[in-house]
Amino acid sequence: MKFFIDTANLDQIKEAQELGVLDGVTTNPSLMAKEGITGKDNILKHYVDICNIVDGDVSAEVVATDFEGMVREGEELAELHEQIVVKVPMIKDGVKALKYFSDKGIRTNCTLVFSPGQALLAAKAGATYVSPFLGRLDDISTDGLNLISEIRLIYDNYGFETQILAASIRHTMHVIDCAKIGADVMTGPLSSIDGLLKHPLTDIGLAKFLEDYAKGNS
Ligand code: E4P
Repeated sequence: MKFFIDTANLDQIKEAQELGVLDGVTTNPSLMAKEGITGKDNILKHYVDICNIVDGDVSAEVVATDFEGMVREGEELAELHEQIVVKVPMIKDGVKALKYFSDKGIRTNCTLVFSPGQALLAAKAGATYVSPFLGRLDDISTDGLNLISEIRLIYDNYGFETQILAASIRHTMHVIDCAKIGADVMTGPLSSIDGLLKHPLTDIGLAKFLEDYAKGNS
């Protein structure tokens, strides 16, 4: 399972990278705005800054909603750095753009996916990653994890190579549940990765080991 961090915050990306388990980064226009990154030139530079911190894939989202605009933006983003994956929304022109990029060998992440049918279309169009937003489904009392299971089943039935990127992860249990279901990738906040570390018996056990060591060596 690949671990991506879902942020445009460079300090958090560095912290996750230093832990040694980071496989990539996802961003979106809202995450960029949250870090105060505005204006096309600043946004493009920020993508390159992120690529220079991590070794893996960095999703950069188009903001055009028409086919020609998405192609123009996506090609510019892909030119920025070899780690860039072009993030395209699940709309009609987005599906056309996914197919166009796939034919050109440009890697893509189909975003804003909320149904198995949308995920099937993304795979048919040759998306590298599909991003079902499980947290946002949970937010409206719909089972987000069930969507991940349904997509896993459909992709396995036909051997689709599109990777399931469980997105909109809210907490550590989402990460564990997605791992059980067989999501290829998860993207979440740093806290969802840090949470995997924690167990009180680890802390109690370590304190006891150190205490006994100190007794024997004092
Ligand atoms: C996916 O790539 C999105 O950036 C992200 O996971 C959305 O998550 P949110 O629902 O927490 O905004």
